[in-house]
Amino acid sequence: MTMSVADDIQAREARYILQTYRRTPVTLVRGEGVRLYDSDGREYIDLLSGIGVASLGHAHPGLARAIADQAATLLHTSNLFYHPLQGELAERLAHLSGMARAFFCNSGTEAVEACLKFARRYWYTRGEPRTEIVALEESFHGRTFGSLSVTSDEHYRAPFAPLLPGVTFVPVNDPAALAAAVSRRTAAIIAEPVQGEGGIRPLTPAFAQAISDACAKTGALFIADEVQSGLGRTGYPFYFAALGLKPHLVSVGKALGGGVPVGAALVGQEVADAIQFGDHGSTYGGNLLACRAALCFLDELVGGGLLAHVGRVGPHFEARLKAIAAAHPIVKEVRGKGLMWGLDLSRDAGPVVPAALERGLIVNRTSETVVRLLPPLIITQTEIDEALDRLDAAIGAVEASA
Ligand SMILES: Cc1ncc(COP(=O)(O)O)c(C=O)c1O
Repeated sequence: MTMSVADDIQAREARYILQTYRRTPVTLVRGEGVRLYDSDGREYIDLLSGIGVASLGHAHPGLARAIADQAATLLHTSNLFYHPLQGELAERLAHLSGMARAFFCNSGTEAVEACLKFARRYWYTRGEPRTEIVALEESFHGRTFGSLSVTSDEHYRAPFAPLLPGVTFVPVNDPAALAAAVSRRTAAIIAEPVQGEGGIRPLTPAFAQAISDACAKTGALFIADEVQSGLGRTGYPFYFAALGLKPHLVSVGKALGGGVPVGAALVGQEVADAIQFGDHGSTYGGNLLACRAALCFLDELVGGGLLAHVGRVGPHFEARLKAIAAAHPIVKEVRGKGLMWGLDLSRDAGPVVPAALERGLIVNRTSETVVRLLPPLIITQTEIDEALDRLDAAIGAVEASA
């Protein structure tokens, strides 16, 4: 029996890769724009972007050129030296976010980890060592120990206990519960302005107001985790601003490098003033390759009109999803903003994933019942229509088989 290329790849992984991921049995080998191709040459429309990362789509010519040019010039120097790009990227992120300074790292979890450490450092510097954190139920902030400690899902937490002490979880969008949980012992409140893994749940304006009120009353810092919702995904540079929130710290990652790993903790001046040389660091953080890719992404987002594009196509995406929901009783609710959407079903959303794949569409299930959609930000209205026709058919097939 001859093995296909995909069989060969999958067999090698089964033998040598630590089995932490339950992969979909598809081997992706090439991409172009919103489309991905597998090892048998099958085409898929990508409504997931590698979980919110491929913001410029796949094989974006400008990003590919920038990366190649940077690789042929200089990739890495460490943070022991200056290079020309890190300060420029920090300045651009400061202007976009209204935050004062940036610390660069390599992933979302490291960005959250840095925010948690800087929050602790702020209180330590003030001689008032507050250590407690208030986080939200249904939250997801990453898999390293600090980020995991503020992530609510017991399934992720339990095998790794004990985690950081002093973390309290409150129900999302419950202003009274938040007010009751935050005190003068609270170092920081951490929240995703739109919860991602938790099922695409935007914070309500009333809850955002409760966060602002609790911070004003107790002095607690606010960390906005914009790793999934930030940098244009919702049609806003950052969703915290749409909610009227003024964070002291912001974590970003995912879309920033368009596929090159890069994360950042954006820090307000008050907190920045508490940080000293040597307090935190990363060998790779903010290297030339990461900064060049991120600058290319920001060029497209702001100067290149990508943000305005999301503002234009987002409402069309929403209208099409609402039409799908109206046509299929298993869709209970449509939640999201811009190009960040969840379809909450009255049943396990798992079977929608293979039904969509069969129809040439990549989507993902999160939070058991939610079909999550995070398309590349470059997706056009025509591509949205083609993709959502496929999704409509996939949901129809799942509904018919129920
Ligand atoms: C809101 C949020 N924070 C943090 C993370 C962790 O990011 P990473 O997987 O890059 O460490 C994620 C990942 O899904 C996320 O959605």
